[in-house]
Amino acid sequence: MKQDLIEQARAVLARNDRGDYTVPTHGLYPFQWNWDSALSALGFSHFDEARAWREIETLFRHQWDDGMVPHIIFHEMNDGYFPGPDVWATGRAVPTSGITQPAVAGFAVRRIHARAKNRGLADAQARALLPKIHAWHQWFFTNRDPQGTGLVAIIHPWESGRDNSVDWDAALARVPTEGVAPFQRRDVAHANPAHRPTDEEYRRYIWLVQHFRDLGWDNSRLHDASPFRVVDPGFNAILIRSCLDLAALADDLGEAEIASASRAFAQAGIAAMDALWSETRGQYLCFDRVTGELIDSPSIGGLLAAFCPIPEHRAQAITQRLEAIGATVPYLVPSHDPAAPEFDGLRYWRGPVWLIVNYMIADGLQRAGQTRIVQRIVDDSLRLIEQSGFAEYYDPVTAEPCGGSSFTWTAAMVIEILNAETTPA
Ligand code: GLC
Repeated sequence: MKQDLIEQARAVLARNDRGDYTVPTHGLYPFQWNWDSALSALGFSHFDEARAWREIETLFRHQWDDGMVPHIIFHEMNDGYFPGPDVWATGRAVPTSGITQPAVAGFAVRRIHARAKNRGLADAQARALLPKIHAWHQWFFTNRDPQGTGLVAIIHPWESGRDNSVDWDAALARVPTEGVAPFQRRDVAHANPAHRPTDEEYRRYIWLVQHFRDLGWDNSRLHDASPFRVVDPGFNAILIRSCLDLAALADDLGEAEIASASRAFAQAGIAAMDALWSETRGQYLCFDRVTGELIDSPSIGGLLAAFCPIPEHRAQAITQRLEAIGATVPYLVPSHDPAAPEFDGLRYWRGPVWLIVNYMIADGLQRAGQTRIVQRIVDDSLRLIEQSGFAEYYDPVTAEPCGGSSFTWTAAMVIEILNAETTPA
C-alpha cells in the first residue's frame, strides 16, 4: 500500500516536471510557483536529491535585486492563466509576478540538507542558497515591517498562499474596483467555479496589482501605499521557522553572521506573535494593520502558527481547538472553522483541507510534543489520498476532491509523510 502510494505520487511529480522546475498542475497553473516549489522539492529529495536542489535553485535564479522572491515565474508563455505577464508588467527578462509568497524555502533547504545522502552536493547547494534566502528574509523585515514590529504584513491576499480566506474579507472590501481593466478569468475554465474565488474578489485582486504596477513595483513604497496590509500568523510562523532553520544551517556551514541575524529576526517575531492570540477563539488571529485591530476570523492561519516555536500552553490550546474541530468533521484540518457561518467546504481556502498545511501544522505540533493530534492529522491526510487521489484540496466533510487534479505539492507531501521515519527532526 505504502509503496503503491509513493509510486503514484512519483508519477504525479514526473508528469508536472518541466526539467528545472515543476508546475503545480497542468492546465490550471502552467508556471512555477514559489512555495509550491520549495515544498515539492521535499518530495523529490527522497528519490532524486539533485532534482530537489535544482527546483529551489531555479526559484532563486529569479530573485529580484532587492531580495524579493516572486510568487510566480512565467518560464514559458501560456494563455491559459490570468493574470499573465502583461498584467504584472514587472519588466523582468524572464517575466515574474511582483508579489511574494510564504517563505518556506529556508525550512525546506535545511531539511533537505540535513538528511541528504550526497553530502558534498548538499553542502555546495546549501552554501550557494544560504545568502539568497537570507536576503529574502531581510527583504521581508525591511519592506513589510517598516515600523520594526517584529512581524511582517502581506499586501495582497495571494501573498498568503490562502487566496480567498475569510480572513481577508473585510480588508479586501476596502480595496476599490474603479478603473480595473476588463479581464477574462481563465481559472474557471479549468476548475469548477463553485470551488474558486468569486469575480468580485478577482476585481479587487487585480486592482491591487494595477496599483502596485503604477508605483513601479518599488517595494520601498508598496507597503505604506497598499490599502490591504494584514499580519497573518501562519505566514509569519513560516518566516520565523525558516529564519531559525536558516540559522541552524548557517551554523553548520560556519556562517556566523547569517546565523545570528536570522536568530534575531526569529526572536523578535516570536515575541511579537503573542499579541495575535485570542483567548475567546483559542487560537491566533490575523491583525489588520490599516485599522489596527485583530480580525475575528477563526481560520487555519491561526493554527498554522504552531509551525514556529510557540509557548507550550498555546500549543496545548491549539491542540484542543483541533480536537474540537476534529469531533465535527471527519478530515482535519479544514481551512476555516466548520462552525463559522462563512465556512464553505468546497470553496478553495474557505473550508477545504490542504495537505501542505496539514504537513506544516503536524510538523510544528510534533516538535511541541502533541503526538496524538499529529497522528490524527497524518491519518486523515492519507485517508484523503486513498479515497480521492492527489487533488489540489478536499472537502473536510465528504472528502470530495476539488480544484486541480494530479497536484504536485499534494503528491510531494504524501512522499514526505510516508517517509517520515527517515526524516531527522
Ligand atoms: C493557488 C493557491 C496558492 C498556490 C497556487 C499554486 O493560488 O492558493 O497557495 O501557491 O495556487 O498551486
